[in-house]
Amino acid sequence: MCSVIKGEVIEGKKLGRKLGFPTANIELEVTDSTPNGIYAVEVELDGIEYFGVANIGIRPTIKDSDVKLLEVYIFDLSKDIYGKELRVKLSVWLREERKFEDIDELQRQIAEDVESAKKYFKL
Ligand SMILES: Cc1cc2nc3c(=O)[nH]c(=O)nc-3n(C[C@H](O)[C@H](O)[C@H](O)COP(=O)(O)O)c2cc1C
Repeated sequence: MCSVIKGEVIEGKKLGRKLGFPTANIELEVTDSTPNGIYAVEVELDGIEYFGVANIGIRPTIKDSDVKLLEVYIFDLSKDIYGKELRVKLSVWLREERKFEDIDELQRQIAEDVESAKKYFKL
């Protein structure tokens, strides 16, 4: 797998910050056929490469809307990147997007996803 998605970072609901995993959100075209799910990713921002973990889907736990989003939690990055262009390379598919019972369960799973991605990249 080696699909690359490019896009501009838009404002999310900022719940990610409360979850402890702030994400950069990119709205995908309705016609985008990338399979939903959680991926280990490599991200290029301002010419610098980062690693991270991404979710492509509609976030059934939050019941936000039916808009398909790419959300990336970038490791070791704390600055505000709204409006910036991101290039996201999907390195490996980790799991399906799921509806969790509560936010705590989602938070625990995202922490596991981060560990899986770090293991994959040998970080
Ligand atoms: C690695 C990762 C995995 C995620 N997995 C799921 C999931 O399985 N189900 C789900 O409903 N949302 C999932 N999410 C999305 C979170 O619900 C989302 O990041 C949170 O609502 C924050 O959204 P915001 O940026 O709009 O504030 C995932 C997010 C990340 C970064």
